[in-house]
Amino acid sequence: MNNISQNSKLKTQILIIGSGGREHAIGWKFAEDFKQKGQDLELFFIPGNGGTAQIGTNVSVSSIEDMKDFAKENKIDLTFVGPEAELSEGIVDIFQKENLKVFGPHKSAAQLEASKAFAKDFMDKYGVKTAKYKNFQGPMLAIDYLKEQEYPIVVKASGLAAGKGVIICQDFEEAKQAVLEIMEDKTFGDAGNEVVIEEYLEGFEASILSFFNGKKIVPFVPAKDHKKIGEGETGLNTGGMGVIAPNPLFTEEHFKMFEEEIMEPTKCGLIKEGLEFSGVIFFGLMITTKGVYLLEYNLRMGDPETQTTLPLLENDLFEVVDKTIKGEDFELSFKNQHACCVVMVSGGYPGNYDKGFEIRGLENVTCPNFIAGAMLSGDEMVTSGGRVINIVGLGNTLDEAREKAYENIKKVHFDYEYYRNDIGVIQ
Ligand code: AMP
Ligand code: GLY
Repeated sequence: MNNISQNSKLKTQILIIGSGGREHAIGWKFAEDFKQKGQDLELFFIPGNGGTAQIGTNVSVSSIEDMKDFAKENKIDLTFVGPEAELSEGIVDIFQKENLKVFGPHKSAAQLEASKAFAKDFMDKYGVKTAKYKNFQGPMLAIDYLKEQEYPIVVKASGLAAGKGVIICQDFEEAKQAVLEIMEDKTFGDAGNEVVIEEYLEGFEASILSFFNGKKIVPFVPAKDHKKIGEGETGLNTGGMGVIAPNPLFTEEHFKMFEEEIMEPTKCGLIKEGLEFSGVIFFGLMITTKGVYLLEYNLRMGDPETQTTLPLLENDLFEVVDKTIKGEDFELSFKNQHACCVVMVSGGYPGNYDKGFEIRGLENVTCPNFIAGAMLSGDEMVTSGGRVINIVGLGNTLDEAREKAYENIKKVHFDYEYYRNDIGVIQ
């Protein structure tokens, strides 16, 4: 493999794994901080996208072994891993074996995201507040169990299913079908070898990202995701159509409950199980009249929560990540502002959509904006995915942040573009 970087080590070199808006935003934050410090930075992305190509170098290798060789040969100072797939395949263990500095959970801890059954057993064992549940490795017992339950109920494929393996069922027949689709038809492949059947919780959701240094979990400002394709939270689930932060529905009291009944027991559990790592814990929460419940852990930054919260983060990202990796103490501080991220997608998403359309008007955008699914073709940025661009408005109020985002998204166009007009509208 060739040595791309010719420089001496006066410059910090960071490698970011992933190809979405999240990775563009992580690179952007590093770049902003280094600019402010007046220090040199060189960014590499594997594989990156059209946006990351404008702030760094995209590198095309696909196996984790090749990524490790690239990091070694180019004397990368830090590798930041975006997506869950590489984390659950053990990229952190492989990099650390070579003494490479890497931010993310070990394969063992990444199971908290990669296996919902494992995560639920962990929550149960350590008293993390979560919906009542039972895990099943075959359809017969699962269906027997469903006969005696109250409805609605939630059936989940245990493994990684790109956010699609969760089915809310209104009655026994629907739940039985869900189990058969997941376990026999294998709609989500091997992710459906085990199912979690779980109590349905009614409320509103919040996402809290955090950094963990192996001893202490430090939370980000709480965010609110908008997962459905249609306005008013209707239609199919997507990877995320927009996020606002802070989450205006999440009160101080909710935060206290989260800290005491979810964050602290999670930390104790991770330490007791010997699962300490330096990286991200993303808490997917449901807030009901009975309190704050944990729906799921992700062991990575959220998308588009990252694009929304990093522009509010006041700390130097490299410094915090470095402290986290060294197990040192740190605090996070966030601007006393609001952020509203609106996602522009290809028409047809989350179903089938066409790509290859030129994106026009990006140069007129005056707020942070990240490429999620587009690539450079010569000088042109062309669509290459479902979620295409993230536009992030910032303001002193949520209304100001929303206005900024929508004023700017109107300047960007591509054929069959679509976005929701109600991101940040609180019903
Ligand atoms: P998960 O991947 O487990 O976070 O689930 C994806 C989405 O399904 C969540 O963001 C919720 O909207 C919904 N969901 C998951 N579990 C439950 C539950 N127990 N009750 C109600 N909705 C749920
Ligand atoms: N926005 C939710 C996620 O990243 O999983």
